[in-house]
Amino acid sequence: MNLKIALLAGDGIGPEVIDQAVKVSNAIAKKFNHRIKWSSALTGAAAIDALGDPYPEKTHEVCLAADAVLFGAIGHPRFDNDPSAKVRPEQGLLKMRQKLGLFANIRPTFTFPSLLDKSPLKQVRIKGTDLVFLRELTGGIYFGERGRLDNGNTAFDTCKYTREEIKRLAKKGFELAMTRSKKLCCVDKANVLESSRLWRETVQIMEKEYPEVEVSYEFVDAVAMRLVQWPNTYDVLITENLFGDILTDEASVISGSMGLMPSASVGTENALYEPIHGSFPQATGLGIANPLATVLSAAMMFEMSFGLTEEGALIRKVVDQSLAAGIVTEDLKENGEKGNSTSEVGDYLVSMILG
Ligand code: IPM
Ligand code: MG
Repeated sequence: MNLKIALLAGDGIGPEVIDQAVKVSNAIAKKFNHRIKWSSALTGAAAIDALGDPYPEKTHEVCLAADAVLFGAIGHPRFDNDPSAKVRPEQGLLKMRQKLGLFANIRPTFTFPSLLDKSPLKQVRIKGTDLVFLRELTGGIYFGERGRLDNGNTAFDTCKYTREEIKRLAKKGFELAMTRSKKLCCVDKANVLESSRLWRETVQIMEKEYPEVEVSYEFVDAVAMRLVQWPNTYDVLITENLFGDILTDEASVISGSMGLMPSASVGTENALYEPIHGSFPQATGLGIANPLATVLSAAMMFEMSFGLTEEGALIRKVVDQSLAAGIVTEDLKENGEKGNSTSEVGDYLVSMILG
């Protein structure tokens, strides 16, 4: 098979972890006789420096021309503490999501048997956790009207959703639930917010089309609590943009390291795969970044964009092997023990694929 993949390494540790995902993907291509054509493009702070735009038109064209996009991370501390900065790397991320129509952000959280003791939560609580968040990604308060009033002394952001936006996200949730344990949780704040009431109303109507799916409706504050109490009681969760942003960071803690969790952002035409961790600027260039989240994002890409399930499964298998063998970066090592470098982990995965 010919695979055309756009490569957006981005900022911070992005390029280092992307390098490992490329090595692993190339090894998979070699083993299964595929041809990958990579095309790289600039995003984030790197793109601001070069072209003054965190998601330049040229990059957008590269993404449109590809079958899938593999993305590292965006963000640079240079912009974080400068409220006057006119362009910010994160704006590139939002622009990219919107222009590529990536309305559904799929963020799985699962545990690895060999890492159960790495989680700050008790093993009995997290054992068997295998849940997926579907976060709405191109609407809500992230994209609503915002501004300042009263000479800058009052600020507002608006959370707005259309029934269509909710429906297309919820449809993906129902479909995913049908392939799993047929349990769907709609996370909202319908006791307070009108937009949440529209979410609930819309999902309640859709329920009738999926009689096999057992739907629960829970308030976001209660989910935030139950997520750390009994995460293994959840399966598929659907929610709006901001709630999803917050809850998926919370959920990532369950697995033991943020460096482990992959994600996919999909729309009707395009798909992008990225680790859920950020650009981790303090670690840039030190070779300590955990590449597994990006490698697992590549596995999701093989499966979801190309239907190559055997390839995805092999990536997951070698990731499990690296964890079991302790060929891992320092975030997964016991106190003080030196970790393997980012590229050593990548090399080990490649050797297990081709070996
Ligand atoms: C995420 C990130 C982004 C978001 C930021 C960097 C804009 O936190 O992908 O979860 O809030 O969506
Ligand atoms: Mg986030």
